[in-house]
Amino acid sequence: MKKVLLLLALLLGSLYFLSPPASAETFTCLACHSTMKGKIRTDKGVLIDVQIDEARFSQSVHGGIGCTTCHKTFKDNPHEPPKGDVSKSLSELAGLVSPKAKVDPVAYAACSECHGDIYKRVSESVHGKNVMEKKQSDGALCIDCHGSPHYIMPSESKDSSVNKWNIVKTCGECHDKEEIAKKYNLGTHIVEKYDESFHGKKYKLGLPGAPTCVDCHGAHDIKKWDDPQSPVAWDNRIATCGKCHPGANKKFVAAITHKPVGKHNPIPFYAEKGLIILTAGTIAFVIFHVFLEAFADIRDRVFRKRKEEPHD
Ligand code: HEC
Ligand code: HEC
Ligand code: HEC
Ligand code: HEC
Ligand code: HEC
Ligand code: HEC
Ligand code: HEC
Repeated sequence: MKKVLLLLALLLGSLYFLSPPASAETFTCLACHSTMKGKIRTDKGVLIDVQIDEARFSQSVHGGIGCTTCHKTFKDNPHEPPKGDVSKSLSELAGLVSPKAKVDPVAYAACSECHGDIYKRVSESVHGKNVMEKKQSDGALCIDCHGSPHYIMPSESKDSSVNKWNIVKTCGECHDKEEIAKKYNLGTHIVEKYDESFHGKKYKLGLPGAPTCVDCHGAHDIKKWDDPQSPVAWDNRIATCGKCHPGANKKFVAAITHKPVGKHNPIPFYAEKGLIILTAGTIAFVIFHVFLEAFADIRDRVFRKRKEEPHD
């Protein structure tokens, strides 16, 4: 089956010579990968999409980069056991991202060669640590937010998954999931709560100044909300909200919350508990009062009357 596929790919690939792409090497890869269609299960049992849309790839921000700049261990006339010259630091990084990268961890690590600063910040974020320290595959790395590495568009483009008008949906891919919220003890329906907030409503109306998730949390360096480095930690909130609300103070910044009431945020929690105690107290007092009055009444009628009656 695989042999037939390969032959077919080579055959179709020869048609491809009519419109050669930028680099000769990329050209050989695309000879197969732009013509093959569908999903294939690799020897390691991972289901992959073998087709690369050449037009979309060449229009993407990486259109001028050769395939093997990222896929360093893949040489053409594939794929002899992938091996190639990979620096020690890159292969270490590849090891760290392997819980996430099931196909080619080296390619996933290769982003760091050109976007080193961003890679470092992501590694130290709550998302990066989830993969690289906790060895889970739930946290977000580059492709989770930016989409396929082959078709990344500039963030201003409406086709970019991190564009202002797409980012809420992109974060929602995970933060709308019950399993993720439960596993990491996070608030549920975060996106729904955002949608219902002042900000979410303005966002839906297309107001350019309305904040999205990344205006409050950052993008590459997202931290847990109570981490002192988080822009939404209590001590940093005045600055964060103040970007758009000059004159924001402690009382103002407590207005926004999308956590379950009472979990961490002390203000709504005690406010609610206080209200419950007050209500219950009032009811108890009223009941007690009615009871006392009734008792006084009975006492008056029964005992006092009796007293008034002559004894003998
Ligand atoms: C002769 C056709 C052909 C050529 C040329 C080719 N590939 Fe592939 N490639 C395949 C097939 C078929 C698969 C399906 C999975 C498999 O059998 O490993 C694949 C799978 C892959 C995968 C998925 C990972 C994996 O382990 O399967 C990557 C990454 C890849 N190719 C990159 C490249 C790169 C980079 C080049 C150019 C240097 C290239 N390919 C050239 C046919 C080809
Ligand atoms: C900017 C870096 C980069 C470039 C350039 C690049 N790739 Fe990839 N490619 C990746 C990454 C990262 C993955 C995902 C690896 C993983 O999840 O393990 C990937 C995955 C793949 C896959 C598997 C698809 C799947 O469903 O996961 C194939 C096939 C592939 N690349 C082929 C190519 C070919 C052919 C080219 C050149 C036309 C190319 N790549 C260029 C980074 C790149
Ligand atoms: C060989 C260097 C190189 C590698 C490797 C590389 N990139 Fe890039 N990347 C670039 C260049 C050059 C640009 C275009 C920069 C620009 O236009 O400002 C770019 C742009 C981007 C952008 C869009 C920036 C914007 O304008 O919004 C993203 C996102 C991105 N890369 C992510 C990745 C990811 C993810 C990987 C790994 C899968 C990767 N890059 C690997 C060189 C690289
Ligand atoms: C949690 C989501 C998320 C993850 C994970 C993520 N990005 Fe981004 N990235 C964004 C957003 C959102 C923007 C848009 C610009 C902004 O608001 O900062 C962006 C912008 C960029 C840019 C262009 C703008 C700039 O700051 O230079 C590059 C390049 C980039 N990302 C690369 C990467 C790489 C490489 C990785 C993986 C190491 C990565 N990103 C992981 C969300 C993410
Ligand atoms: C691929 C799934 C995924 C995507 C996409 C994603 N996240 Fe997350 N996020 C997680 C997981 C999983 C955790 C919990 C990690 C942990 O605690 O180990 C998390 C944690 C967080 C936290 C910390 C919560 C706390 O404990 O205080 C914030 C804030 C956050 N994400 C915001 C965002 C934003 C904003 C975006 C979009 C730019 C985004 N996330 C995209 C999976 C994702
Ligand atoms: C990127 C800019 C931006 C950031 C950051 C931001 N907001 Fe807003 N906020 C807005 C806009 C825009 C409106 C809608 C204003 C209007 O319609 O007049 C708004 C409205 C509000 C309102 C409704 C009442 C009012 O004053 O209009 C509250 C309350 C509010 N924001 C609180 C916060 C808090 C608390 C934070 C920080 C956790 C915050 N905002 C961060 C832009 C922002
Ligand atoms: C106006 C600022 C603002 C916006 C916009 C915003 N957040 Fe938050 N977020 C906060 C603050 C403040 C907290 C701290 C905890 C609290 O008080 O709710 C927080 C907490 C969180 C948490 C941790 C919740 C927990 O229970 O531990 C996650 C996850 C999160 N935000 C994700 C998102 C996502 C996803 C979006 C976009 C849909 C988003 N946030 C939009 C301000 C914001």
